[in-house]
Amino acid sequence: MSVSVVVGAQWGDEAKGKIVDLLAQRARYVVRYAGGSNAGHTVCTNGTTYKFHLIPAGVLHPHVTAVIADGVVMDLRAFNIEAAALREQGVDLSRLRIGLGVHLTMPYHRLLDELEEAQIEGRIGTTKRGIGPTYADKAWRIGIRVADLLERERLAQRLQRVLQRRNPTIQRVYGAKPLDANALLEEFARYAEQIRPCVCDVPHLLMQAVERGEPILMEGAQGTLLDLDYGTYPYVTSSHPVAAGACLGTGIAPNRLTEIWGVAKAYTTRVGEGPFPTELEDEVGDRIRNRGREYGTTTGRARRVGWLDLVALRYAARINGFTALAVTLLDVLSGFPTLKVCVAYRLNGKEISDFVADAPTLARCEPIYAELPGWHEEIDHCRTLSELPPNARTYLNFIEEYVGVPIRLISVGPSREQTIECL
Ligand code: GDP
Ligand code: IMO
Ligand code: MG
Repeated sequence: MSVSVVVGAQWGDEAKGKIVDLLAQRARYVVRYAGGSNAGHTVCTNGTTYKFHLIPAGVLHPHVTAVIADGVVMDLRAFNIEAAALREQGVDLSRLRIGLGVHLTMPYHRLLDELEEAQIEGRIGTTKRGIGPTYADKAWRIGIRVADLLERERLAQRLQRVLQRRNPTIQRVYGAKPLDANALLEEFARYAEQIRPCVCDVPHLLMQAVERGEPILMEGAQGTLLDLDYGTYPYVTSSHPVAAGACLGTGIAPNRLTEIWGVAKAYTTRVGEGPFPTELEDEVGDRIRNRGREYGTTTGRARRVGWLDLVALRYAARINGFTALAVTLLDVLSGFPTLKVCVAYRLNGKEISDFVADAPTLARCEPIYAELPGWHEEIDHCRTLSELPPNARTYLNFIEEYVGVPIRLISVGPSREQTIECL
């Protein structure tokens, strides 16, 4: 019996999609527990590339039931586009389940996110997918859930209530056009009929699966440093990507978790605004960005890149309780004479080795690096640890020792088979 969680250990895009696809071979359920269509998870297998935003990546496996659990926020327009693209690629979505408690990201949420991001002052660099406004309405208790969607009368009432509050903001604060409740009611009543057969009580579905001992894999979105509470606020997302968020988002009790996987790139990337102590704004950074094809899966934005920050990674290990690490994109680091890893920060003239989540303070932290020898060989064909160049193994050992968590998977290329399992 296993209940495993896959968590991003950095600022997102750590290749969680690839790791979920690998681990899903042993799962019966693959469950998205947080975030929404701000996520972009890529899986490359048998020469085909699949992109997931809301639908769990595990859906590619015929033995897997894919679940969108209650902690997720769901944009039904975006969902329809994603589902159509996947069906076009031959993916069977009949084993998809959607929770009654899932909150809907509505067109006014997306509009508000776009309008807010258009202001220069205080911009977060969001994906403009309406995530923040949806979770805000959830906390304000004016959100619309899938359960509301399924009953036309309830949907009409909820829509009226929320638009009475959101339309004046759209109009008066941002000077934009208000949304029409009737048009939204008709559109969303149609979506209700499309998803009705998939909707179920997710906490019950999963609790029963846990009791039957069926293996469950929970697919994290975003990353630890984007967590609303434990990330670099306000430059964060509005949900809880951390392992504890998997319990909140699914209803599975914390003592049921058996494995917590942290997925980390062999270097660091970040999209959007916010402090990034190891950022490289030079040709080394450009080289990593080009080799790693560091452009967003959801928005196409160029990702900021930097050296591996072990201070941040150890923080992620502690916050999440990682039992295993998957180190990804190691192949990107071939060809550098030396590699730097951040082992401490200098703050106000003092050396500190604990991560600082407070954004303005983190912005003042300067990285202190250890320098490790690089390797020149390409490694994308390696399938065992012993095939890796000795300096690549030294690099991995350094990470393992600093963070105190065993590395159990190493990814050396985008496709499923470009993986080294460490037993
Ligand atoms: P996620 O959001 O954590 O699922 O990650 P993304 O899919 O947004 O970004 C990871 C990118 O790296 C995708 O384009 C993957 O196909 C690619 N990728 C995954 N693993 C590797 C790897 O080991 N090496 C290289 N070069 N690319 C990888
Ligand atoms: P996956 O699951 C990387 C970032 C945005 C922005 C901040 C807030 O693919 O790893 P939001 O739209 O959530 O309000 O944006 O969070 N962000 C991500 N960065 N990967 C993601 O998802 C992200 N989802 C959100 O760039 O800085
Ligand atoms: Mg991504």
